[in-house]
Amino acid sequence: MEKLVSLCKRRGFIFQSSEIYGGTGSVWDYGPLGVELKKNLKERWWNAMVRARTDIEGLDAAILMHPRVWEASGHVSGFVDPLVDCRNCKKRFRADDPKIKGTPGAPDAQCPACGMKGTLSEARQFNLMFKTFMGPVEDSAAVVYLRPETAQGIYVNFLNVQQSTRQKVPFGIAQIGKAFRNEITPGNFIFRTREFEQMEMQFFVEPGEDMKWFEYWKAQRMEWHRGLGLAESRLQFHEHTRDELAHYARAAFDVQFDFGGTLGFQEIEGVHNRGDFDLTQHQTFSGKKLEYFDQPNNRRFTPFVVETSVGADRTTLAVLVNGYREEAVEGESEGRTVLGLHPSIAPIKAGVFPLVKKDGMPEMAHRIADELRSHLPVFYDDSGAIGRRYRRQDEVGTPFCITVDGESTSGGTVTVRDRDSLKQERVDAGQLRAYIGEKLRT
Ligand code: GAP
Repeated sequence: MEKLVSLCKRRGFIFQSSEIYGGTGSVWDYGPLGVELKKNLKERWWNAMVRARTDIEGLDAAILMHPRVWEASGHVSGFVDPLVDCRNCKKRFRADDPKIKGTPGAPDAQCPACGMKGTLSEARQFNLMFKTFMGPVEDSAAVVYLRPETAQGIYVNFLNVQQSTRQKVPFGIAQIGKAFRNEITPGNFIFRTREFEQMEMQFFVEPGEDMKWFEYWKAQRMEWHRGLGLAESRLQFHEHTRDELAHYARAAFDVQFDFGGTLGFQEIEGVHNRGDFDLTQHQTFSGKKLEYFDQPNNRRFTPFVVETSVGADRTTLAVLVNGYREEAVEGESEGRTVLGLHPSIAPIKAGVFPLVKKDGMPEMAHRIADELRSHLPVFYDDSGAIGRRYRRQDEVGTPFCITVDGESTSGGTVTVRDRDSLKQERVDAGQLRAYIGEKLRT
């Protein structure tokens, strides 16, 4: 992880937020390559979940919502962690922190930070939602929350979307957006942060059909992660036990990815059968009906919901961990670091290099880069030895490197080097767009 964090900073993937001020706790900024990588990931999700289907509609609901939403959803009363404070060193811990010796509040309880006994407070419930104020008056009537999940924006818009699109149950609503949680134990780079992005889809089904759709979405979502190139051996399902189930869930499975090291297998996505909990709660709290009218059968019902909820940042970390490798190169003393990203999400699709800076090679390489740039993100590089230029692209996951050499200016062909196999093929310069386009599709 340390090597990855260092690469991410050095090559412009991910920086610590407000670094020049000493950083903001567990908040990260995406640099030029990171923003492309995460954008590609989100696009892949949007294409699979919305564009490629006729039964899912897109939505972009606001982050700030009516405060009653969070009472209805259960977040005001239930989205809490038990916390204890040390009166001596003023540090704060989760009450179930295994480093705490004894029972917090009791005289023998020992602070894991300063080691004092009897200074830990009893556990108090701490809500993980960020609060702010709407309007000029900062009183309790003006309190609003930064959403801790995007899902609620979908539930409150259920009828707006259904009626405006004339979708029939079963159908889904999908959205990508920021969520905020004042996590007590954030960390592990972008794994658990206080500001993050979710890609969520709520699928509305007839009661009784919910487990069938739950199984369907479990399989679909695992397939999507496989399609990203995440290694089969690093993926698994984890079924929630009765104790683990969230207050809204009737059944839940996590898609877990093996991050290695001390993290090991961890959740990257949750698939939940939420029953009619959310729509019923919003009907009760708002006093407005959120029922579906089943015209052919002339009856109304509150649909059940199957949710798929995946973190864009956590999946970004998964593809980075999955792709990172260091390897020896035959015949060369220096090894290479490679980010084996799936070509469809790689931030740069092709590096374009003139072998040397003379004999018309830079001019031809510039022409190729300019022509490709309007279709694909490409990077022109003419500095340093060709081997070093290849290494620089390997390290950021660029799947193809195009080199213009002596044969190119006379014969019109260039070499295309594959990042993973290191094989080079001669390709007609005029065919490059089609050649790379074809490779990106597979
Ligand atoms: N609407 C259901 C929901 O929010 P969740 O399991 O709390 O379920 C879903 O979150 C996904 O969001 C997780 O699988 C994870 O990928 C991502 N996620 C949750 N909290 C996160 C955090 N603090 N930092 C980064 N990603 C987070």
